[in-house]
Amino acid sequence: MALAAEVRKATPSRHTIRTYNLCFLGFGNVNRTLVELLLEREAELRDRYGIAFRIAGIASRRLGWIADPNGLDFRGAVDLKGHDFSRAANRPQNSPALAGSVKDWLSAARGNVLFEATSLNVETGQPAIDHIRAALNNGAHAITANKGPIVHAYRELRDLAAARGPRFLFESTVMDGVPIFSLFDQLPAIHLHGFHGILNSTTNVILGEMENGLTFDEALKKAQALGIAETDAAHDIDGWDAAAKTAALITVLMDVPIKLDQIEREGIRNLSAEAVRAARKEDRPYKLVCRAKKEDNKVTASVRPEQIPLADPMAKISGSSSYIYFETDIFPGLAITEENPGLYATAYGMLADFIRAVVP
Ligand SMILES: NC(=O)c1ccc[n+]([C@@H]2O[C@H](COP(=O)([O-])OP(=O)(O)OC[C@H]3O[C@@H](n4cnc5c(N)ncnc54)[C@H](OP(=O)(O)O)[C@@H]3O)[C@@H](O)[C@H]2O)c1
Repeated sequence: MALAAEVRKATPSRHTIRTYNLCFLGFGNVNRTLVELLLEREAELRDRYGIAFRIAGIASRRLGWIADPNGLDFRGAVDLKGHDFSRAANRPQNSPALAGSVKDWLSAARGNVLFEATSLNVETGQPAIDHIRAALNNGAHAITANKGPIVHAYRELRDLAAARGPRFLFESTVMDGVPIFSLFDQLPAIHLHGFHGILNSTTNVILGEMENGLTFDEALKKAQALGIAETDAAHDIDGWDAAAKTAALITVLMDVPIKLDQIEREGIRNLSAEAVRAARKEDRPYKLVCRAKKEDNKVTASVRPEQIPLADPMAKISGSSSYIYFETDIFPGLAITEENPGLYATAYGMLADFIRAVVP
């Protein structure tokens, strides 16, 4: 069962207000933006959904485990993205760093919801899998933007959530906050035969900027400044992030667990600026394309740079935009384009998962 949130009557008395203790594990671009978004939407969450919250825990390797079940004080930390919490004087007030484990931290914070946004580990999905396991075992909803746990432990975590009661949600793992997994929740008994798309924003920004005359390194810096690159940008450049997203979609939506080494993968590292510019001049620009096809219960999948004819919608996907085209037995083609999202889109996906988890 999920930990009971504190309940009190709302004023005006239209709703019952439930107060949730929120814990943030990994406090980089995504979770800091999520805290900003939560604070910005605080009144709407309370008035429209009957949700109140306390920021009861933040943690990372450098920060340690910081917890206060009565709520950490974020005064003086307005610009969360630029804020260096690792300096003791900058810690949220009333926030002793705890020694110990994720379980101790969640218990100390009396956490009802864990937002897991640590860096992607493509090899094992750890320690994010352990974080999510601990949250679910502790009765807390687990919401993640991290693809690792979906690629390496989806079925186990899904089944654990079902057995224990809290929700395990991960909308922000693919196409930021765009409702991809929730869309398929609304399409019962449909069969996904295949998909293709552009799912890695960093490489799309790099390719576009190289077309515009920047070097590879200058273009990468531009993507990193947007906050959209992986902690280790090699994960973007070598196609790991795109492969992890492809694997997550196959595992969850096609119900076929697939390992990353079963996906043919080539990144953009070996594309020269000259080749990228020449391809654009020919009206067949390079894009890092993800593809999957299911036949006779077997899935073949690839991530690789492809030259895309201008008539294909993928050719028009620029900047940090993403695109996906689903082939299903009912809708032969169903496409979604996400135009130039920023970090708020990823944070929004986690906020929406939070509302989905706690509003019946
Ligand atoms: N940025 C995006 O646009 C975006 C979009 C969708 C999904 N995501 C996913 O969201 C996650 C976070 O992305 P981000 O952009 O916020 O990354 P980030 O800015 O690099 O932040 C990562 C955070 O995780 C912490 N961390 C890393 N390893 C840890 C560990 N073993 N234990 C505890 N904390 C750890 C880091 O702090 P310490 O170094 O102090 O440990 C840091 O606070 C990633 O999995 C990424 O794939 C990101």
